[in-house]
Amino acid sequence: MMTADPTLEGRIVLITGAGGDLGAVAAEACAGAGATVILLGRTLTRLEATYDRIVRQGGPEPLLAPLDLAAATPEELSAIAGSVESRLGALHGLIHCAAHMDYLGSLRDVGDAQWRDALDVNLTGAFRLTRTLLPLLTRSEAAAVVFVTDSEAERRRSYWGPYAVAKAGLEAFALVLADEYDGAGTLRVNLLTPGPVRTRLRRKAFPAETAPGPAALAPCFVDLMRSDSPYANGERIAPAAVEPSVIEEEIQHVRT
Ligand SMILES: NC(=O)c1ccc[n+]([C@@H]2O[C@H](COP(=O)([O-])OP(=O)(O)OC[C@H]3O[C@@H](n4cnc5c(N)ncnc54)[C@H](OP(=O)(O)O)[C@@H]3O)[C@@H](O)[C@H]2O)c1
Repeated sequence: MMTADPTLEGRIVLITGAGGDLGAVAAEACAGAGATVILLGRTLTRLEATYDRIVRQGGPEPLLAPLDLAAATPEELSAIAGSVESRLGALHGLIHCAAHMDYLGSLRDVGDAQWRDALDVNLTGAFRLTRTLLPLLTRSEAAAVVFVTDSEAERRRSYWGPYAVAKAGLEAFALVLADEYDGAGTLRVNLLTPGPVRTRLRRKAFPAETAPGPAALAPCFVDLMRSDSPYANGERIAPAAVEPSVIEEEIQHVRT
C-alpha cells in the first residue's frame, strides 16, 4: 500500500480514536499514503488491531499512544508530545476522531456523569490535546488539524443530548482556532462532518440503519493532511451527502 500513493511521505500525523471505525480508516489511509501515524485511543487492543493492519499492508511503523482523553493528566498529555518529538522529530497533522456518545434522550434527564463524560471527551479532551500539540504542529510546514464533528451540532435537535452540545462547542473551538491562525500560513484548522457512516458509535443511535461504511472517507483524510491540501483554513467539509428523509426516518425509529 505504501508505494501506491506516496502523497503523505515524510508527514507525521496523530489520530485520536484510532481504534474506532472512522479513526482506523483515517489512520490506515494516512499510512497508506506514506505518513507515519501515531495511534491515540483509550483501548490498547483496538489500537493494536489498527497498528497490525498498517504494518501488514507495508505502512511505516506507527506509534501507539494509549490515552483516556477524559482522564488524561497534564503529565500524560505532555508525555505524548515529548514522545512524538523525541521519536519522530515533528508533527504535521492531528485528526480528532475520538468521540463519546452513551446517551440519547431529553436534556432534562441527563445525569451529571453523562454530561461530564460527553464534554470531557468530545470537547475538553480535544481542546487539551490540541493545546499541548500546537507548539509542535506550528513548527512544521503546512500543519493541519481536523476535528471530526457531527451534523447534529448544527441541527441542535431534541434528544441528541450532551453529545450534540459538546460537538457544537467543538465546532466553535475549531473555528476560533482557525481564525487565530488565519493568514499566518502555519496551520490549517478544519471541520469534517462525515455524514451517517456505519460505525460502532452510529449503531448505538441507529441500530437498524444501513448507512454506507466509513472507507469512502479515506481520500478525504489524506487530502486534509497533504502539505498541498485542496482545503484552506476554517472550512467545513461534508463529503458524504446526508439524505434528510433517511435521517428523519431514523430519528422517528429512535423515539418510538
Ligand atoms: N459514524 C457516524 O455516522 C458519524 C456521524 C457523524 C460524526 N461522527 C464522528 O466520527 C468520529 C468517529 O466516530 P466513529 O463513528 O468511528 O465511532 P467509534 O467507532 O465508536 O469510534 C470512537 C472512538 O473514540 C474513542 N474514545 C471514546 N472515548 C474515549 C476516551 N475517553 N479517550 C480516548 N478515546 C476515546 C473510542 O475508543 P474505544 O475504542 O476505547 O471505545 C473509539 O475508538 C466521532 O467524532 C463521531 O462523533 C460519526
